[in-house]
Formats: sequence, C-alpha cells, structure tokens
Amino acid sequence: MTDTLDGDYRTGQIKLHGPEGFEGMRKAGRLAAECLDMLEPYVVPGVVTEKLDDLAREFILDHGALPACLGYRGYTKTVCISPNHVVCHGIPGERTLREGDIANIDVTVIVDGWHGDTSRMYGVGAVAPRAKRLVDVTYEALERGLAQVKPGNRTGDIGAAIQQYVESMRCSVVRDFCGHGLGRVFHDAPNILHFGQKGTGEVLKAGMFFTIEPMVNLGKHPVKLLADGWTAVTRDKSLSAQCEHSVGVTEDGVEIFTASPTGQFRPAILAA
Ligand code: MF3
Ligand code: CO
Ligand code: CO
Repeated sequence: MTDTLDGDYRTGQIKLHGPEGFEGMRKAGRLAAECLDMLEPYVVPGVVTEKLDDLAREFILDHGALPACLGYRGYTKTVCISPNHVVCHGIPGERTLREGDIANIDVTVIVDGWHGDTSRMYGVGAVAPRAKRLVDVTYEALERGLAQVKPGNRTGDIGAAIQQYVESMRCSVVRDFCGHGLGRVFHDAPNILHFGQKGTGEVLKAGMFFTIEPMVNLGKHPVKLLADGWTAVTRDKSLSAQCEHSVGVTEDGVEIFTASPTGQFRPAILAA
C-alpha cells in the first residue's frame, strides 16, 4: 500500500518510535502550539472566524509547514473553530465571535511529514462564570489524562481518570470522538477514549505517539452532526469545551509535543 499526501491512511498498527520520531514530533508540535499562541490576540469580539483561519494558514505556510486539515477528507479549512455548544469540527466562515463566547481552536500542522495536533480554549471578552468553570474542568480533565501516561499503564487508565474527574464536577464526557495515534499519519491506532475502565485497553509503551483531546459538556453527553457533515453540537444545546495535546510515551512518563513555548496553553480566561 502507498501512503497518501494528506496523512489519511490508517495503518491500524501502534507504532513505536525512536529518537528521530521524537525529534520530528517536537518540531511539529511546537509549530502547532506557536500557531495557537499567534492567534490569541486576534480572538476578540467581532472577529470573523474565517479571518482566524486565514491567519493560521498563512502562519503555517510561512513556516514551511503544511495545514493537515486542508483537503483532509474534503475539509476545506486550516483550523476547526468550535464556539459555545459546538463540540468539535466547527468550520470557519462568516460567523463572528461575540463577547462572552468561549471557543475551541484546533490546528494540525505537518512539519517534515510529522503531524502536530493541538487545540485550546479561548474566551472572547468577558466570559460568564459557568463557561469559565467548564473550561477549567476541561483543562484539568486533560491534565488528569496526561498524568496516566507512562509505560505499563493502559489506554483505559487515561479514559477512566478523565471520566471520573469530569463526572465528579457534574459535567459529561463526549463519547463520539476520541484521541488517536499520530505521527507520519494523522489519525491512526490506538484510539484514546476519554471514558472507560481502569486496567483495560492497550498497554502503553515507550515510543507510542497519540493525542488526548477530551470534549466536555455542561449538560448531557450526546451530540448531533449538522447538515454540513462536520459540525458536531451538543444535543441539549449545552456549552461544550475541549483541550488537546499530542504526546509521546517516554521511558518514565510523557513528553508533551504541543506545549506552548510561552506557557499559553492554559486558557487565558483562567489566569490567577
Ligand atoms: N484536529 C482534529 C483532531 O483533533 C481533526 C480535524 S479533521 C478536520 O483530530 F478535517 F476536521 F479538520
Ligand atoms: Co486530534
Ligand atoms: Co485536533
């Protein structure tokens, strides 16, 4: 079988990568994080979501990288922008962001063939306390998942830690989308569910690369897909949030490839 240019090719095998894979993912992850850092000052009331997409695409191309989503399974934009009750895969367009919105921006870049995939939450102007709380719970949920990443643990330990925490905060974990292996391929084995049972799933080994990207709803977990075939929204119209990192399993834990070099991954609305 031949590989495809857009990374839309599942091997179904969990690959174990060596030092050159880690080096490749460090570069890709860093550029993806820098792209989200770059967008921060532009996420203000009145901004047209398509403008944020243009800024991201130009930034990625200016840095000699490729936008992985552009052309991926027919997707026509560089980033996904998912405000308020949009769970994920919101398509940038004429929609403007308004004061009080929360929005996830998800970007994936390809650098020297390696995929860096990350998303974070932005607040638009002043944000209501319950929206802030959701963003806080989602950020912390990802942290709880990351804390489970080390050789010998299982993928189910990640999901269980996330689900247990999120539900203890009276929020819900989206079931219909999961984290995924990545590397030279965009979406591959293993699936990383953000819910489940401790001690189940694949055993984590040094050299595995995958994303953790929990979607958390203030209301119930079911989602529905809009007619555009991409945009997923909460069925009950409750607010939804998401945070995503691309990581590698190391000999003694985890390396976060998509950490922000300037420490901006933790949403600015949570500052203090
Ligand atoms: N970046 C998304 C993920 O986390 C995938 C978006 S696919 C797209 O896996 F085509 F919608 F861009
Ligand atoms: Co992803
Ligand atoms: Co993503």
